[in-house]
Amino acid sequence: MYYPLARHFLFKLDPEVAHELSIKQLSRLQNTPLDRLFRQTLLPRPVTVMGLNFANPVGLAAGLDKDGECIDAFGAMGFGFVEVGTVTPRPQSGNDKPRLFRVIPGEGIINRMGFNNKGVDHLVENVKRARYQGIIGINIGKNKDTPLEHGKDDYLICMDKVYDHAGYIAVNISSPNTPGLRQLQYGDALDDLLGSLKHRQQELAERYKKYVPVTVKIAPDLSDTEIEQVADCFMRHKLDGVIATNTTLARDMIYDMPHAQEAGGLSGRPLQPRSTEVIRQLSGYLKGAMPIIGVGGIDSAMAAREKMAAGASLVQIYSGFIYKGPELIKDIVTNI
Ligand SMILES: Cc1cc2nc3c(=O)[nH]c(=O)nc-3n(C[C@H](O)[C@H](O)[C@H](O)COP(=O)(O)O)c2cc1C
Repeated sequence: MYYPLARHFLFKLDPEVAHELSIKQLSRLQNTPLDRLFRQTLLPRPVTVMGLNFANPVGLAAGLDKDGECIDAFGAMGFGFVEVGTVTPRPQSGNDKPRLFRVIPGEGIINRMGFNNKGVDHLVENVKRARYQGIIGINIGKNKDTPLEHGKDDYLICMDKVYDHAGYIAVNISSPNTPGLRQLQYGDALDDLLGSLKHRQQELAERYKKYVPVTVKIAPDLSDTEIEQVADCFMRHKLDGVIATNTTLARDMIYDMPHAQEAGGLSGRPLQPRSTEVIRQLSGYLKGAMPIIGVGGIDSAMAAREKMAAGASLVQIYSGFIYKGPELIKDIVTNI
């Protein structure tokens, strides 16, 4: 593996420049003989979750390939599933730069990207083109300039467009970087959103003659009571799965580190204990009613095992992948 060398070079660049360069190179190299630079053959570790067959339980978390440009490259690295997005109905540029920061001593990342993406139609074209045989999750959100009271419409627009092309759909109501978005995690707003999404899922299942699971991604900053309330709501609506968790607004674990005071969501190792705790609590309330996809600070096979011991059936990585590279996928799949 060439990742230590690549990382040495990439970490000298501004984080977003490094990200864009990596995506561009991966999209060029995928499906060419040069994909051997990152291709890995892993032991099969098949699991069936939400009625879907995964070659292994390790997935790429949302936000790294927002527009689905490198699905085949990530597939070649051995991911059992790849979640693309968050995508919104219309393209949008996201927040002002700089908006992405490495917290190197803590192996964390702070981002306030704000759903920069090329829009759902562009994403669907990329998903259609992909040759990857694994599961593709499509993570959907709302445009920043859509008023919160019409936010539901954005999710429904995206759902209509991605349904026929997604292995599962992830509804992102937990990004801290779209003003007001996290309010959709509470009370009547959540109830109303889930009711509409599940109703639409039923209609689409009939139209396309296939059932595509719908999951919701939650924040790690919910209180114990709020976790109980969301679990209750998810069960009432017979949601198909929960993704826990998104990035955190907390900073206590990195307060003296560089960039700690930047606004945005913190991910990576500092998030690990909190996200595991959320999964543990959620699992206690759900009692197996639906599977949990565990994400947050996984940087080793042991960290992945902890997520599974807390109740996750599948895991996803983002920040750990930035710090450790494709070797981390192999490590987890081999040692989980
Ligand atoms: C730069 C960056 C962008 C992200 N963008 C999204 C996104 O668009 N949608 C989403 O649901 N999560 C997004 N996330 C959150 C990750 O999917 C994941 O939930 C979080 O980073 C915790 O996992 P990690 O500690 O392995 O990074 C993003 C994370 C980072 C670091």
